Amino acid sequence: MYLMPNRLKDKVAIVTGAGSGMGKAIAEDYAKEGAKVILADINEDTLNEVHQEITEAGGQATISVTNIANENDIDAVIKLATDTYGSLDILANNAGIMDNFTAVGNVSNDLYDKVIAVNLTGPFKAARSAINVMEKQKNGGVIVNNASVGGLFGARGGAVYTISKHGLVGLTKNIAATYGRFGKVRANAIAPGGVNTNIQSTITNVDPLGGQALQAAGEGPLGDPHQIAALAVFLGSDESSFLNGDIIKADGGWTV
Ligand SMILES: NC(=O)c1ccc[n+]([C@@H]2O[C@H](COP(=O)([O-])OP(=O)(O)OC[C@H]3O[C@@H](n4cnc5c(N)ncnc54)[C@H](O)[C@@H]3O)[C@@H](O)[C@H]2O)c1
Repeated sequence: MYLMPNRLKDKVAIVTGAGSGMGKAIAEDYAKEGAKVILADINEDTLNEVHQEITEAGGQATISVTNIANENDIDAVIKLATDTYGSLDILANNAGIMDNFTAVGNVSNDLYDKVIAVNLTGPFKAARSAINVMEKQKNGGVIVNNASVGGLFGARGGAVYTISKHGLVGLTKNIAATYGRFGKVRANAIAPGGVNTNIQSTITNVDPLGGQALQAAGEGPLGDPHQIAALAVFLGSDESSFLNGDIIKADGGWTV
């Protein structure tokens, strides 16, 4: 695909989970396309590495150590965008964690609370804060949620992961049906299949029943983070202006 340079010129974007994997790739590609990027992640070390890489390549970026599960952190990162760059045009809600494919009966309250906080409540609160800024801007804004095929099917994650990603899909559709149609904020989501990132290293002790269900779903190809970032660039840009409430599956045909 031929990518026009500067497709995100003059846009200000927040990318959560920007320290690794797809968030890193999205942040890099946003900066490459001319966006000013707020790099938000809980991991300061990896944030510094990504920041250095982007700025050395001539991109514009600012770091925000952010725990997406913390409401104060969310408000602070939204404020940082407008204080630093004067607007907020794109929120890429990307940070997320997995749950060892844990089946419902084995889900502890702690696991449930943690995964919902990071994968659903955090993105919801970030979207809420972002919308309240974007709605006041002349050109509105765009929300790009990184969901998962786990948000469309039953056995691509454990119970909580599946619930959280289905919730994120629902959030996307609701924002699209309200602000996308009658306000100034479009929302779309990406539903990646398997992508080669550091998330695989967090799968430490697969639940037997969840693992069995995953195995029955079969193996799919493993994507590169920049294959997902390409979609996030398109969804963040004005080229996707007629897309609203779409959940775009990008899994190399895994679930076809
Ligand atoms: N890799 C896959 O196969 C795959 C498939 C479908 C969907 N996804 C989704 O893509 C998104 C990105 O995942 P990835 O595969 O790039 O993973 P990754 O582990 O490589 O990167 C995730 C990043 O999120 C950060 N993070 C974790 N908890 C956070 C928190 N509380 N606050 C802020 N940052 C936090 C981590 O520090 C890390 O930098 C996730 O939402 C994930 O659910 C991944």
